[in-house]
Amino acid sequence: MSDKNPWNSQLYDRKMSFVSILGKGILDLLDAKPGERILDVGCGTGDLSQEIAIAGALPMGIDFSEEMISAARQKYPHLPFSVADAHDFRTSESFDAVFSNAALHWMKQPEKVAESIWLALRPGGRFVAEFGGAGNVAQVIMALKRVLAAIGVDAEERMPWYFPSIGSYTALLEQHGFTVTFAQLFDRPTPLPDGEGGIAHWLNAFCAPFFVSMQDHEKAEVYREIATQLRPYLYQNGTWVIDYKRIRVAAIKPANP
Ligand SMILES: C[S@@+](CC[C@H](N)C(=O)[O-])C[C@H]1O[C@@H](n2cnc3c(N)ncnc32)[C@H](O)[C@@H]1O
Repeated sequence: MSDKNPWNSQLYDRKMSFVSILGKGILDLLDAKPGERILDVGCGTGDLSQEIAIAGALPMGIDFSEEMISAARQKYPHLPFSVADAHDFRTSESFDAVFSNAALHWMKQPEKVAESIWLALRPGGRFVAEFGGAGNVAQVIMALKRVLAAIGVDAEERMPWYFPSIGSYTALLEQHGFTVTFAQLFDRPTPLPDGEGGIAHWLNAFCAPFFVSMQDHEKAEVYREIATQLRPYLYQNGTWVIDYKRIRVAAIKPANP
């Protein structure tokens, strides 16, 4: 695990498996058909690529984390996975669909990612995705900003996420030539496993860029303070419930643009 690439596949699969489990909902919108070639962008450890394969389609997973791709290859050796950054991913294949769950909000140049998706699709192909939208984890971000400001760190400068409104994201897709057929922004309060300790696992799994260069003892103190600030809002009957807001979007690359 490095500062540039903070993904820890074991922590992800042991403690954050709810991400891909909840992501199964977006597979209904994808509606993969037998024989379709489907690109899974930000595939992580491959669980949803495997679901796509179970539907009879032919997934290919890409992710810029070597660690996540190596875990995906171990779990699903029959599926093709590649290390690639979606910002500049190019392929000679022409996919029937591009799919993505819980990954696009980690990609801070969405125009470049939209271009990669557009180029990967065949004319008439579809793009279906779910990711964090405007207001996602707003309480957590407020607490992070307050606690880090107190030790002289500007959380905004370290912000790893892009959480667009559906208006701005669908406009971006339309500017690229896509026809947007579905867009939704919805609250999805998400309970974490492991009771009291759940918030620390979540901060470890998803917030590493905010804590770059911190000593362990300093980080532990910051985590404690964040938990204290969030407890009145996000700790309910022994469970942390994170204030997720998701975007679901579907769009077509027109057959005759
Ligand atoms: C929360 S995980 C989601 C993984 C998987 N889609 C799932 O549903 O379990 C987000 C993934 O996005 C990947 N990611 C982040 N930025 C990326 C980029 N620029 N290009 C490709 N993958 C990226 C991360 O490495 C990580 O595996």
